Amino acid sequence: MCGIVGYVGRRQAESVLLEGLRRLEYRGYDSAGIALPENGGLRVIKTQGRVQDLRDKVEPVTIVGTTGIAHTRWATHGEPSDRNAHPHTDSSGRIAIVHNGIIENADQLRAELIGQGVAFASDTDSEAIAHLIAAALPHTTSLEAAVRSALAQVRGTYGLLVLDADRPDELVVARNGSPIVLGIGDGEMFIASDVAALVHHTQRVVFLDDGEIATVRADEFRTSTVGFDAEHTTKVPTTIDVTAAEYALAGHPDYLRKEIADQAEAVRRALRGRLDHRFATAHLGGLAMDPRELRGVSKVVFLGCGSAYYAGQLGAALVEELARIPATAEPASEFRYRNPVVDPDALYVAISQSGETMDTLAAVQELQRKGGRVIGAVNVVGSAIARQCGAGMFLHAGPEVSVASTKAVTNMAVSFAMLALLLGRVRDLSAADGKRIVDGLHSLPDAIDAVIADEPAIAQIAARFAKAQNMFFVGRVRMWPTAREGAQKLKEISYIHAEAYQGSELKHGPLALIDAEMPSVVLLPDDELLAKNLTTIEQIKARGGAVLAVTNADVPDDCADAVIRVPKTTPELDPIIFTIPLQLLAYHTALTLGRDVDKPRNLAKSVTVE
Ligand code: F6R
Repeated sequence: MCGIVGYVGRRQAESVLLEGLRRLEYRGYDSAGIALPENGGLRVIKTQGRVQDLRDKVEPVTIVGTTGIAHTRWATHGEPSDRNAHPHTDSSGRIAIVHNGIIENADQLRAELIGQGVAFASDTDSEAIAHLIAAALPHTTSLEAAVRSALAQVRGTYGLLVLDADRPDELVVARNGSPIVLGIGDGEMFIASDVAALVHHTQRVVFLDDGEIATVRADEFRTSTVGFDAEHTTKVPTTIDVTAAEYALAGHPDYLRKEIADQAEAVRRALRGRLDHRFATAHLGGLAMDPRELRGVSKVVFLGCGSAYYAGQLGAALVEELARIPATAEPASEFRYRNPVVDPDALYVAISQSGETMDTLAAVQELQRKGGRVIGAVNVVGSAIARQCGAGMFLHAGPEVSVASTKAVTNMAVSFAMLALLLGRVRDLSAADGKRIVDGLHSLPDAIDAVIADEPAIAQIAARFAKAQNMFFVGRVRMWPTAREGAQKLKEISYIHAEAYQGSELKHGPLALIDAEMPSVVLLPDDELLAKNLTTIEQIKARGGAVLAVTNADVPDDCADAVIRVPKTTPELDPIIFTIPLQLLAYHTALTLGRDVDKPRNLAKSVTVE
């Protein structure tokens, strides 16, 4: 949420920063800005709109300089506008800052600073930080000390990057609750809120921890704790295995299409080395739990937000079905606020693609504080949630750039199927059933590719349904999380209102909304509820509603107004396969309506604010 880029080195900073912003734009895209030292002062250029709008403003000017900071914003305090875009400066124009996060005592700080005669130039919570740093500068010997002093007055979260016109060879950066990573080059340093902005320059990175501050120069960086005691911290650079090539569109028109198409390969990566054919189980070494500990798990609780939460619901269903252990899922954003009873024998699973979602991270911290055992199911290696959990399953989906999550969600479900298999096989799941699941997981990539091969037909169906204002997604039992995920995908990228219901619940109220204007997508797996789901379709049709059935059952084409057929795998894994056509349906509906599929309005990837 919001993207930060900084550079100090030997190249012209302007182009490094603009390119970095372009790669981070998925983190926020309502405004953008850049600041570089120029003639003893600062040159700040910012604009409402996309990074391209900023580029159009910056390129004709050409700011010469080898240090600079930049930002792409997702508004929290203050509407998207030129004046609210970052960087923000102090009144003298000497200090510029870019900030991710939320300053909770911003109103109080603003009132105090205004009382001291400071004039504010924006409505943001962030601007106060620039004024506080400027106020501290005369009383301190370094920029870092001034930033430290300012942060001592601030309550809230930040990923913060500071530029001082009087010290054009250094940048100061600090982290509390919002990610910051340093990229170490040869005589140059890169700073970003996300490795996406760094990987085309360097693979050597240092992740700042919460409560750390760093002074960064072209050939060195020094880290310490933010508090006044300023204890030096030792950071060993790590080499990340993500490459720039993984961020390339590779011939796809947009990242969403690429990431949907990538899924078979992503699933293969998630399965690699983890399926044990001999004992019909899974190897998940990252859990760091021996069979006795696995047997001792009394309950499994999945925690995540948005689509990660729906994947957790699917995980809970799989664990109950395969391992016969009570399992539930809950939005991490709610869990952390309801003073949960933490069961020391339960296994808590924190689910996150980005590994930075603030609510999920806070739930992990709350669990650990109460002695709960929590593992991560995280995609981004080195992310805050992965590091906080210390154990878990990496999703291996590869970088996900499009705001709507697709391949990470699929790999969450695949990982939970393996977790359920492992938990089941240390209990009473038979070897024969274990083998069925192992074989089913093995066949998933080909089944996914078979669905994707059907894309032209799904695109035609999407075009037929795209004029709807509202849609129902109907799925029962196993398919309920899939229905919710289908509705989520459609609403977030096409802006069509969509709700998920269990077929069994329709007649208890929602059926009143069915008419010729309200189509329903009904998930129709070939399972013990097939006849009941067919009855649901009849009930919808009898009220004039159009039905799109997604099915792997041997049902006639005229059972619904349109039918998408998907391959059979293993019934327990059907929800994973059924998710793929729903992604394609949402994608092509959004394209039909002319939406920006990678950057849906009002949203941003990686929600690092509350
Ligand atoms: C939906 C979507 C969001 C995320 C949610 C959690 O397509 O992308 O609902 O799933 O914000 O994000 P992570 O997984 O990064 O914690």
